[in-house]
Amino acid sequence: MTGSPDVPRIVDPQVLRDVLGHFASGVTVVTARTAEGPAGFTCQSFSSLSLDPPYVMFAPAKTSTSWPRIQGTGRFCANILGEDQEPLSRGFAVSGGDKFAGVPWHRSQNGSPILDGVLAWIDCTIEVEHDAGDHIIVVGRVLELDVERDGRPLLFFRGGYGRLEQ
Ligand SMILES: Cc1cc2nc3c(=O)[nH]c(=O)nc-3n(C[C@H](O)[C@H](O)[C@H](O)COP(=O)(O)O)c2cc1C
Repeated sequence: MTGSPDVPRIVDPQVLRDVLGHFASGVTVVTARTAEGPAGFTCQSFSSLSLDPPYVMFAPAKTSTSWPRIQGTGRFCANILGEDQEPLSRGFAVSGGDKFAGVPWHRSQNGSPILDGVLAWIDCTIEVEHDAGDHIIVVGRVLELDVERDGRPLLFFRGGYGRLEQ
């Protein structure tokens, strides 16, 4: 170990991105039904968090235009994408436009958008938010959740999409 622990070191953002990109994740689309229609964005920072009480979390960037719309509803639904849903992931990662055009979806009991064909979904109320640099940590209390179908997940690794081998 070198360096003093109390001296802040500047970490190169590109190095941060490259190294942390080695942590593989699944891919979700976080959705909500707003008064102006459904909102959603592609999100890999989703994670399980607590069993009792039942919490999950995700981290929207402060630049996200979908997050304030989702936040205003007090709810969100995390849709876990299957390996064949890369086009959905790409479509919901674009800022602006009608991301739901041509995307079939149905409502959870609480009215949240569940995208057709996802592996599973988790419908939540927003419990608490924590400031976290250029992101916000959002903790959701799980209201309802289900598995929609058998299948393998879409993965994200080192800036690209991946799939589990057979
Ligand atoms: C695989 C993947 C994972 C992503 N994960 C996140 C994330 O965890 N948090 C986030 O804020 N943006 C994430 N993004 C970027 C957002 O999807 C994108 O910036 C956002 O959809 C922009 O649209 P908006 O302005 O409607 O929010 C991810 C993008 C991709 C392709």
